[in-house]
Amino acid sequence: MTQVSHQQWGEVSSLGSVDLWILQSSQVRVEVLTLGAIIRSVCSRGKHGQMEDVVLGYDDLEGYVSDKRYLGAVVGRVANRIARGHFVVEGKDYQLDINNGPNALHGGLRGFNKAIWLATAVESGVQLSLTSPDGDQGYPGEVQVSVTYTLQGETLTAEYQARSTKTTPINLTNHSYFNLAGQGAADIYDHEVSISAQSYLPVDDTSIPTGEIRAVEGSPFDLRKPVLIGSRLKVIPGPGFDHNFCLSSPGDPWTRKHAARVCHPASGRVLEVSTSQPGVQFYTANFLDGSITGKGGARYRKHSSFCLETQNWPDAVNQASFPDCLLRPGEEYRHITCFIFTTV
Ligand code: GLA
Repeated sequence: MTQVSHQQWGEVSSLGSVDLWILQSSQVRVEVLTLGAIIRSVCSRGKHGQMEDVVLGYDDLEGYVSDKRYLGAVVGRVANRIARGHFVVEGKDYQLDINNGPNALHGGLRGFNKAIWLATAVESGVQLSLTSPDGDQGYPGEVQVSVTYTLQGETLTAEYQARSTKTTPINLTNHSYFNLAGQGAADIYDHEVSISAQSYLPVDDTSIPTGEIRAVEGSPFDLRKPVLIGSRLKVIPGPGFDHNFCLSSPGDPWTRKHAARVCHPASGRVLEVSTSQPGVQFYTANFLDGSITGKGGARYRKHSSFCLETQNWPDAVNQASFPDCLLRPGEEYRHITCFIFTTV
């Protein structure tokens, strides 16, 4: 049985009141904010029963209001990058604001992570809904979006749904940063990761996929068997992992499949992720630099955490060989991601 409760958490001037929802099962406790549909905390047990909060975040609402790193938030309308913020849909040009080098990232200057969502209780969880108006951040069509978080035992499920009045690209994910030793731990070097992907997307120097779908075989991106994150980070080029791993191929049917497993042997905590999405961005918090003060005064540094952003492949709207990211009027966008917190 999951207990669901909520309380007022604060007020954002010009936006309104923000609530905190608490989902409590016998194994896991999850806190969700109506600002940004943010997962504010996930407390899970280690092998000796010890509870730790395993997601990064802030003590107060102000931290989330000024956050630039998407801690815990749902990002959209289009998660990840769109090259030069430009795309053409049904013969019409769209130009988005540029907010990441030359590109558009994570839905724009005021993406879904900065909106206050409307919450309703559902069985074992909470449903958060949002109306993104026609032209929001430059995107076409009015989009009705919902994210439903439910907790069953050790499994936290996020279900994303959307409908649009005009054809629009869409790509929704949750941008939680995890450290299975506890959110204030220094790094993730002692975590082991495996990702069920035969291929990944190499990127250019602005992190836009080059278009190549490259086999992981024989490269440091082969994570099909568990590897220690610390030792793998030493051999991959650049500041760390920030790449889309391909979980399925364009045109494959909608199915939920295993995506990734991360284990922290010292605490015994394990996170398994499964998803219906065709990709997952494995990101090792390369852009955290110790300037953020998080929960309990923790300083979040480079490689202090990892994200598993289940998603469509980045820049899909501009890359014809990538899985279709367009939502047309009359269609329903629907994806599911499960985060399963167990121990070894
Ligand atoms: C994603 C991106 C990263 C970075 C973070 C947010 O993971 O792929 O490059 O922008 O979001 O800081």
